[in-house]
Amino acid sequence: MSTPINVVITGAAGQIGYAIMFRIAKGDVFGCNQKINLHLLEIEPALPALNGCIMELQDCAFPNLAGVFPTANPEEAFKDADACFLIGAFPRKDGMDRSALLQKNGGIFRVQGEAIGKFAKKTVKVLVVGNPANTNCLICQHYAGASLKNENFSAMTRLDHNRMLGEIAARLNVTTDKVKKVIVWGNHSNTQVDDASHATVELADGVKAVYGALPQADLEGEFAQKIATRGGAVIKARGASSAASAANAAITQMRDWWCSTPEGDWVSMAIPVPDDEPYGIKKGIIYSFPVVVKQGVVEVVKGLECNAHIQAGMKKTEDELIAEKQAAYEALNIQ
Ligand code: NAI
Repeated sequence: MSTPINVVITGAAGQIGYAIMFRIAKGDVFGCNQKINLHLLEIEPALPALNGCIMELQDCAFPNLAGVFPTANPEEAFKDADACFLIGAFPRKDGMDRSALLQKNGGIFRVQGEAIGKFAKKTVKVLVVGNPANTNCLICQHYAGASLKNENFSAMTRLDHNRMLGEIAARLNVTTDKVKKVIVWGNHSNTQVDDASHATVELADGVKAVYGALPQADLEGEFAQKIATRGGAVIKARGASSAASAANAAITQMRDWWCSTPEGDWVSMAIPVPDDEPYGIKKGIIYSFPVVVKQGVVEVVKGLECNAHIQAGMKKTEDELIAEKQAAYEALNIQ
């Protein structure tokens, strides 16, 4: 019987929290042989609703669920944490400017970063979902301090990656397992670069480049636009933002980080830019790259040729992340 690992979900009573906790408890991330303690962090007013979710968890009778610990105290939540899904964040309200949003979220990710640095295991994997995800992750890492390293942190661009797989598969009438090597570069925002220029698809007559199977002009135009604005389209249609697909993306990103990426493919993960500054992206921000993961070690896929259109986008999204960082650092008075 395995020793339980401690898995933290923040914003657990929210809509992504509700969609993710049952799948984690069932074994979709850490496997069906791994026992789990769920540490569920919420703000005080949401604890009664969270209690309802916990009743439902019990009623599912998941064999791997060793314990459930609801709390509004970050220090309790992150104690001995092995894996954290940081989903709770302050939503953008009407008329709120960007610096106010960064300040509100900076406050949340400062407190959580400090608690993670002090109380989580040094091997912890922290996946930031709450928006603006890349910059929230940067703030969290900053306040976690030097006892944790780059390899402890990532932000979620997997929903955009999965959206690309889904859309290419739909256009070519194949299942998504036939599509490989899509890339999301940069920020989880409208400047993200949805790059299918290295992607392949397995069709009835063999493996082909997606550039060719679909028109390049569409892939760099209307297709990329559709992926980058998909969140808004879901809100318009559903009257609420993506929840099941966002939860699924967090599950797949953490699972690949924990268990390794599949042979012959890569995934997109926003990570602290490594020291060797791949593709000329400067250190000091959380930027999404194509990565492979082997036994928990994340490595950026190097040496891909990027055309001028993609390169221009990569620079623009880097500039946006630098500007977001500056605004957040100013709001939080970080020197
Ligand atoms: P929601 O509003 O349904 O739930 C958020 C929950 O967080 C609420 O229950 C709230 O009480 C809680 N919360 C707020 N402050 C907290 C704190 N300091 N500590 C603990 N919990 C706290 O929102 P939803 O739909 O679940 O989305 C959560 C976040 O995920 C949003 O920021 C959203 O923009 C982001 N998101 C990110 C995606 C990505 O691809 N990176 C995709 C979809 C959503």
